[in-house]
Amino acid sequence: MRSYYCGELNETHVDEDVTLCGWVHRRRDHGGVIFLDLRDREGIAQVVFDPDTAESFAIAEGVRNEYVLKVKGRVRLRPEGTINKDMGTGKIEVLGKEIEILNVAKTPPMQLDEYADVGEDVRLRFRYIDLRRPEMQDRMRFRSKVTNTVRNFMDEHGFLDIETPLLTKATPEGARDYLVPSRTHPEHFFALPQSPQLFKQILMAAGMDRYYQIAKCFRDEDLRADRQPEFTQIDVETSFMDEEGIMSVMEALIRHVFQTHMNVDLGEFPRLTYAEAMRRYGSDKPDLRIDLELMDIAELMQDVEFKVFSGPAKDPESRVVALRVPGGVALSRKQIDEYTNFVGIYGAKGLAWVKVNDIAAGTEGLQSPIIKFIGEETTAKLMSAIGAETGDIVFFGADKAKVVNEAIGALRLKVAEDLNLVRDGWAPLWVVDFPMFELDSDGSLTSLHHPFTAPACDVDSLKSDPANALSRAYDMVLNGTELGGGSVRINKPEMQQAVFQVLGIGEEEAEEKFGFLLSALSYGCPPHGGIAFGLDRLIMLMTGATSIRDVIAFPKTQTAACPLTNAPGLVSTKQLRELNIRLREKPKA
Ligand code: AMO
Ligand code: AMP
Repeated sequence: MRSYYCGELNETHVDEDVTLCGWVHRRRDHGGVIFLDLRDREGIAQVVFDPDTAESFAIAEGVRNEYVLKVKGRVRLRPEGTINKDMGTGKIEVLGKEIEILNVAKTPPMQLDEYADVGEDVRLRFRYIDLRRPEMQDRMRFRSKVTNTVRNFMDEHGFLDIETPLLTKATPEGARDYLVPSRTHPEHFFALPQSPQLFKQILMAAGMDRYYQIAKCFRDEDLRADRQPEFTQIDVETSFMDEEGIMSVMEALIRHVFQTHMNVDLGEFPRLTYAEAMRRYGSDKPDLRIDLELMDIAELMQDVEFKVFSGPAKDPESRVVALRVPGGVALSRKQIDEYTNFVGIYGAKGLAWVKVNDIAAGTEGLQSPIIKFIGEETTAKLMSAIGAETGDIVFFGADKAKVVNEAIGALRLKVAEDLNLVRDGWAPLWVVDFPMFELDSDGSLTSLHHPFTAPACDVDSLKSDPANALSRAYDMVLNGTELGGGSVRINKPEMQQAVFQVLGIGEEEAEEKFGFLLSALSYGCPPHGGIAFGLDRLIMLMTGATSIRDVIAFPKTQTAACPLTNAPGLVSTKQLRELNIRLREKPKA
């Protein structure tokens, strides 16, 4: 129907007769002349109708926003002074000759210019209109280009794209499963995969050597800006490669993607151990664009009278840390109170602070509610130990290590954001040497990654001291977001059994849930490992979007619903009967 996309036109098309198809972005009447901004996927072109072409002019007068048109006309240069530098097609316009209305449109529920400030519920309900916005079109196009680059890279490196089932058994990644009842097997359910983890390992046992898949994953968990119940992974597995080999190819992939689509050289990624990341940043996904660090000061606080500090200072499971914030002296009491409430969310019982008005003036130059508790001498030692300078505010956290890490780790990000201490640019890194397990509140151990991750020790050491075992897992972190995670896997049944045992999964349960994996491991499964990247998160970071919902065509809301289709929906009694399901009565309100 068309000869060019609207957004394709430029000076080289002057004097050419063209046919454009698209949506009316804007219509302006200007003293007897009608300007239509006609929009399609590639951009916007200005079409002018003057009364000389009476019939077309009359039609143009009647069109409204979002009408779909086919327009014929001749390209000409815009008169001097009407050139629009912000528009790709800003130097030319089309003198319209014929116009055909292909479809009419009701008044759209939202403005299509990118500043339009409508609620997300409206955007999602009318997603077909929201997606017409140039910003969203750009994101979808960008996403498509990136996946194409990923596919080519993987293909060139010998990885086979193999699909794995969506109707399957539970694949534990720490979330709840989405279940699908089976009609042919009453009382039985499929689970949608939380990841293709078990299948990709079995593909290695099957000799496929190198696998990748742009794979849909399903997790019923609490949603956040960077979490969706249904999301996409770049999922990878390879045989006969150790962690060094895998990290090196995967780093090359991400570097290649950034080079190709952002013209950014990410350089070689630094590595941090989990222990160091927690110690310095209170987080296993530190944002290295921020220089602020947690400093341990327990040694200095052992004997102070201030129980808030001396208690945790003597407890090996606790931490006392200082966070020195340059320029923070300007914070008001109100802001400090807000930060105190903020760390409270993470369980911190308070937020001690020292303002450094003049470091040369000794205690006189400091302002703080706690100097009186810890004494002038210790304060002086403290200031020198943390390298305090005039203009700083120093925050303190003292509690169980978990609380301190979460609270002061989060404060670090928030203060840096508020005081403009976040550098521009990209800060990728690998976090390595994760513990195998973490301690639950009830004293049991759970996998930090998933139960198929290989430990860095042998079966005996794992069994005798599981809490201190390290794993062969690695996470890729970019600007404070966990972009991907993976590991070398267990490839021998004895080790897999040992891990299940530590996790309190008995032999019978292991056989029932993962018997097929144990069996695969026992028929000559090669050493293997892999990784999965969150594709949505990658695109979110690359496009500067603030939520992964903005880079997914049809995302779900915070309550895991789809306002466009109204999913999830009710089903008929007949369907339920076929599935052998009877609903319980609704609990009385
Ligand atoms: P993991 O659970 O760490 O590992 O997931 C890998 C990556 O997927 C992304 N991700 C998500 N993105 C959006 N919404 C979610 N709900 C969500 N959950 C995870 C993150 C994360 O880093 N099978 C293992 C990988 C492996 O070991 O190879 C796995 O799924 O970016
Ligand atoms: P208090 O004696 O409880 O009034 O506390 C004195 C100062 O120490 C206040 O600024 C509190 O915010 C702070 N504080 C209290 N508990 C903690 C804690 N666990 N970690 C850091 N600071 C705290």
